[in-house]
Amino acid sequence: MIPALLAPAPLRTAVDVETADEAGFLQDLQRALAAPPHSISPKYFYDAEGSRLFDRICELPEYYPTRTERAILSENAADIAREIGTGCDLVEFGAGSCSKVRLLLGDLRPRRYLPIDISSEHLEVSAAELEREHPGLLVLPVAGDYTSTFHLPPALAGAPRVGFFPGSTIGNFTPAEALQFLRGAARMLSGGGLLFGADLVKDPAVLHAAYNDAQGVTAAFNLNLLARANRELGADFDVDAFWHSAFYNAAAGRIEMHLVSRRHQRVALGGECYELDEGLALHTENSYKFTLDGLRRLAVQAGFRPQAVWTDPDRLFSVHWLRAPERE
Ligand code: TRP
Repeated sequence: MIPALLAPAPLRTAVDVETADEAGFLQDLQRALAAPPHSISPKYFYDAEGSRLFDRICELPEYYPTRTERAILSENAADIAREIGTGCDLVEFGAGSCSKVRLLLGDLRPRRYLPIDISSEHLEVSAAELEREHPGLLVLPVAGDYTSTFHLPPALAGAPRVGFFPGSTIGNFTPAEALQFLRGAARMLSGGGLLFGADLVKDPAVLHAAYNDAQGVTAAFNLNLLARANRELGADFDVDAFWHSAFYNAAAGRIEMHLVSRRHQRVALGGECYELDEGLALHTENSYKFTLDGLRRLAVQAGFRPQAVWTDPDRLFSVHWLRAPERE
């Protein structure tokens, strides 16, 4: 996954994105099954069903990041708007149901809002809702994968481009990818800046519970990757023959999610047959946890100038405002 943010060009249609994505999914899943490190990009979680399950994760009692970040954003919305300034061109990376941006819109009053999301169906519904709720706000949804090339409409004159990247999605990249993403964002947002949310290092028991909820929604979300392969790629995964494994890898500072094969089994996918040993773990996602200093260093390394940081009283989660370099 090589994040590369591209300059203005015509909008891609949702159909293009989906076709390209299907070929990518097959290839990436075949590669993951065939050989170590048996890992696949988390972007394939987000079909309509995956996006729906993800929204449910965000409401789980054990999953503290969403409600904590929402509280930080809503309690500090006026302060955030003072730092950023009103009238920006607001671009959200991975907008999903566009729910967090709603906490900012009243104070931040952007000229336009451009939500980018890989799940175009999900995105269009949310964008239409948002326009109904905020008459006068121009919403331009962009269906695409913000971790690879995507196209934005031309920047607005006199409206600095501000990125919004909540949800600690930065933590779902490897450290090298995170740096690359931020470098690309710094270029794309020159003259403006980036507001992003990042989860903080804490008691591993709290982390463990957040990714192993009692209702099994996170497990269903992880397993949906295989169900999706059955639906879209005609694979024959026996979804019940895998279990959801999520644990904190303290040395790496991250939660890891895997799909573990319960038994020796064979899977047909794209005309090939894959033999999976009992215990084979398909690595589906990392979720890195950060320190405030670590995040600051990362931002500086990417070319940003860190400004204000907002956290909750228990220091569970953090929201950062970074200024991008001026335009050359
Ligand atoms: N980025 C968030 C996190 O890592 C949300 C998220 C992404 C997530 N994928 C997930 C949460 C899978 C639970 C399970 O926490």
